[in-house]
Amino acid sequence: MAISALRVVATATLMSMMVVVAAAQLQLHFYKDSCPQAESVVKGIMQQRFSADPSIPAGLLRMQFHDCFIHGCDASVLIDSSGNRVAEKDAPPNLTLRGFEVIDEIKAELEKQCKGTVSCADILALATRDGVALTGGSAYALPTGRRDGLVSNISDVHIPGPSFSVADATTAFQTINLSLEDLVTLLGAHAMGFCQCGFFVDRLYNFRGSGQADPNIDPQFLGVLQQKCPRPNNSVPFNLSTDPKIFMTPSSSTPFKLDTSFYRGVLNEQAVLQLDQELAFTDLTRRTVADYISRPNVFRRKFAKAMIKLTNVGVLTGQQGEIRANCRRFNQPSH
Ligand code: HEM
Repeated sequence: MAISALRVVATATLMSMMVVVAAAQLQLHFYKDSCPQAESVVKGIMQQRFSADPSIPAGLLRMQFHDCFIHGCDASVLIDSSGNRVAEKDAPPNLTLRGFEVIDEIKAELEKQCKGTVSCADILALATRDGVALTGGSAYALPTGRRDGLVSNISDVHIPGPSFSVADATTAFQTINLSLEDLVTLLGAHAMGFCQCGFFVDRLYNFRGSGQADPNIDPQFLGVLQQKCPRPNNSVPFNLSTDPKIFMTPSSSTPFKLDTSFYRGVLNEQAVLQLDQELAFTDLTRRTVADYISRPNVFRRKFAKAMIKLTNVGVLTGQQGEIRANCRRFNQPSH
């Protein structure tokens, strides 16, 4: 009797756990009844924006990463600071994020067509997915149903930095259940877009306080970088808005394509960031890098898989959070 009662309790507990798990799951075409045109609206605007500025997908990819890393993929990075509340967006690693106006345009259009239905978190994830496809990546099927978060504080922003070792970046990725392989794969996004000198200038003139450049930079490439990024003048304060920017993978002839050029740069000691260059220096990461160069379709497939995993991190679903009317503001200003 006691055992069967226990079984009932155990079964009920298991079922309620399954309900919780089920509620927490995203699904393909979540908006098929509530806003059937949602995905095509996102795609149409992304196509227009991409033809005007082919660097937009790079901006969104980075924004997606920075969103998911803090509080999960809940659009917390889109919130503007207001009053005394300083939002994630104003944290130093986020000051060069780009593409907010693309998300605003998509949101405005979807609010016109399907008021209060499509979350900002899903808009960012779908727009990023379409950006990946537009730049030569795979058009992966993306589960949706994310809800928008109610928290965005500058003090919560702890994102791996460009001088992290691969080991430290891996530890940081593990906190969001991403693996070393996911890290190596997602860093392939550094094939695209821009990088400001301030993120790597220490490698060019005074690496780890040595007064010398990082010895692991190809000498010719070092000359190119030094020309583009002059030695910092310590008597002039660093100014983000005047800091020069270069392509993230300067050795690539396709700076707006999600191809394997980043990995080629890594093997040729022509990676811009210290973390990126370090991928060449352990057997495991070097093997993956070489594998992606020789089998670009494996990279495409693994990149899509890693993006789905990334955009699944800490999502809010069901009745959690809200569907914001404006991606830059919580619906209730008191949040
Ligand atoms: C783990 C560590 C990572 C570090 C330390 C890192 C660091 C950086 C830095 C310093 C920049 C230059 C930003 C600027 O100058 O505005 C950058 C750009 C970029 N990152 Fe990463 N990143 C990391 C991971 C990722 C991941 C996982 C993705 C993609 C999912 C990504 C995608 C990009 C893209 C596409 C750009 C170019 C952005 C643009 O053109 O505006 N990064 N990253």
